[in-house]
This record gives sequence, structure tokens and C-alpha cells, in this order.
Amino acid sequence: MKCKITNKELKPFMSFGKMPIANGFLNKENFKDEFFFNMEVGFNEDISLFQLNDHPKPEKMFNAKYPFFSGSSEYMKKHFKNYSEYVKKFLNTNSKIIEIGSNDGTFLKNFINQSDKFIGFEPSKNVAELAIKNGVPTIINFFNKSSAKNLKEYVGKTDLICASNVICHVPDLNNLIEAVDILLSKNGTFVFEEPYLGAMLDKVSYDQIYDEHIYMFSASSISKIFKKYKFELVDVIPQSTHGGSMRYVIKREKNEVNNNVNKILNFEKEKKIDKIESCIEFKKNCEISRQKILGKLKSFKDEGKSICGYAATSKSTTILNYCNINSDYIDYICDTTKEKVGKYSPGMHIPIKDMNYFHNNLTNCVYLFAWNHKEEILNKEKNFKGEWFSHVEI
Ligand code: TMP
Repeated sequence: MKCKITNKELKPFMSFGKMPIANGFLNKENFKDEFFFNMEVGFNEDISLFQLNDHPKPEKMFNAKYPFFSGSSEYMKKHFKNYSEYVKKFLNTNSKIIEIGSNDGTFLKNFINQSDKFIGFEPSKNVAELAIKNGVPTIINFFNKSSAKNLKEYVGKTDLICASNVICHVPDLNNLIEAVDILLSKNGTFVFEEPYLGAMLDKVSYDQIYDEHIYMFSASSISKIFKKYKFELVDVIPQSTHGGSMRYVIKREKNEVNNNVNKILNFEKEKKIDKIESCIEFKKNCEISRQKILGKLKSFKDEGKSICGYAATSKSTTILNYCNINSDYIDYICDTTKEKVGKYSPGMHIPIKDMNYFHNNLTNCVYLFAWNHKEEILNKEKNFKGEWFSHVEI
């Protein structure tokens, strides 16, 4: 499917090659039917938007077997608690809080005992059911104009719509913004957090790019996109999550705009984050990063060292497939998610093992795929005396 939010034809500036579904962990018998797409990225200069050229159908990614649970990280649980405190100031009336892509309810759970007025949209049935079990009312559906209209019939308009790491997953952004328009009250606020393009360019963390991340946003792109619908970017707050994210606060136009917005917009202009030039530089840096990590892996192997991966992240699918790293280099990847353990990594088919296996089969070196959870993981694994490494600085 093409990702188009303006009529402009996108010219990809880089290809990461044949890529499988990032969260498509699979059994041996499914190797022969594995789905691949050509992962190319482009930059729409009219709206300063970094995006995939083409992406698999959302149903291929977000289904009853979706193996990602927000609550799998203690750091993220704390983050969502703080986020829930932050958004309370936007609640004026008795309206419901709506979360788009509420996953296992980790964010909305924070409102239990404080308010019974919240509801999530989550299309992946297995995670949504966990949220419902945990006391978070959840509509098992994609958030779009049609599901927003249905909800409005029951609950009316709302003062607050939230989302985290989900807006960049939505192919039809036009439809999403129209859905927000349907549900949001006149003085309502739409707050969402997404991995930040500026951080990705700076860290050369190209592993942020995978099938689910159709867009990599910046303040420039968000401001331009929402303006088309008479919404205004009124605040931006940098976040440390996911290796560098941004919280965007959107209101209907003619609202007071915080100074942060101009500061970040000027910063992006200075660094050319709003222009294709930064992407061309990024492409060169990705190629250098690939050579460097392959060199590192080869030298470990030449020294007779064993290597495993830590955390079978969605991001690791991009690294492994772009750099063509298979089990000749990496013996296994350990992960805490039971839905992934016993399966194989998408594309490169490296076995996924549980944490007991890791502790009983320690390798000399560990590739930290969850580099964004470094503090939490290194703290847990203090007994490991070998070498941690990654393609970004850790
Ligand atoms: P993500 O990068 O796609 O969000 O996935 C994070 C993955 O990392 C998820 O499969 C759980 C795994 N993980 C661990 O195995 N151990 C940990 O300590 C943490 C924080 C995450």
C-alpha cells in the first residue's frame, strides 16, 4: 500500500532492501511463506515528512497475534504514569479520555480509581483482551472516522484524546485527523508522543524504521499537517523514551502557542530537519553504520567470541535484515515475551530464547537490540561480565 497524505508523488531516497514484518516472529514451518516488502523511505518536502514509500496492510501487522505489550518494560510503565499526570490538566469537563492504540491498557490503567471515564481503541485482539481483563474498557478496532462516529453516538465529544507511539503507525493520517475532529470538543486537546526524527538522524538509529513506523515525525511536519485541518501545534516536549521522542500537544487553531514550539521549529530549520538534505546525510551515515557493525561482528568472530542478541525488538528486524546478520554471527536472541520465545526472528531466522536460556548460555558478547532500555537492562544483568555493544552509542 502507498502512504500518501498529499497528492505529491514520493521519490524514495533510500532502500533498506527486502524486509519482513518487524513483529512477524515465526515457526520453522512458516519460513517458506514469509512475507517481504521492499522497504524504501522518502521525504515529502511540502510537509517536511519522512516516511515509508510502501507498507504492508495494517491487518498484516496488528492482529490477534501481535506480540508487543507496553507493560513489558518497567521504565515505560513509569513513563505512562507520568504521562497520565501530565494530561490531567486538559480535562475540563466530565468527558471521557480516549486513547488511540491503547495496547494492554498500561496508560489508561493509571486512571482507574480516579475516573471511570476512559476508553481505549486497540485493533490487536490479544493485547486488547488483556487490557479489558485489567479493567480498561477497550474497543477492539482501528481508530478512524467510522469508529469515531460510532463512539460519539454513545459518549458525545471529548476534551482529551491521547496516543503514544501509534500515530506514526496510521497510514491514512487524513482520516485519523478527521476522526480526531469528530470527537474532540471545541477546547479539547489531542496529545501524542512519537519517536522523533531529529533523534533518529542524530543517533543514526535507522532501526526506528520498520513496517509499523510509516512516518517519522518532527515538529515541522506535525505543525504543517495539522494546519491543513485548522489545528495548531501549541506545545512540544522532548521525551527520552524510544531513544528520543517528542510529545506533541494539538488544539484547534487560534490557541496560545508555547515558546517551545518556535524554539524547536527554529532548531529543525537550523539542522535542516525540515529539508531533504538531512536525509541524504542520514543515508550516508546508515551505510557507514552498517559497515561498522559488520566489521565489529566479524572481528568478534575472528577472535573466537560467541555473540547473542538481547531483546527481540521490532527494531532488530531492520538491523538484522538491512545488515544481513544471521545465525552465523548471532547464536540466539533472548526476550521476555512468551509470544516470541521458541520462534525465529523475521527474515534472518535467529532462534528466540527465554531469559533462563540466556543466563545458562552466556555468550562473550551481547548485541543490545533494546538499546533504548539500556539502563533498565544493564541494571538487571549486572552479573554479565562480557561485552555489551550496539550499532548506536550505548
Ligand atoms: P520494542 O523495541 O519493539 O518496543 O520491543 C521491546 C522488546 O524488548 C520486547 O520484546 C520485550 C523486550 N525486552 C526484554 O526482553 N527485556 C527487557 O528488559 C526489556 C525492557 C524489553
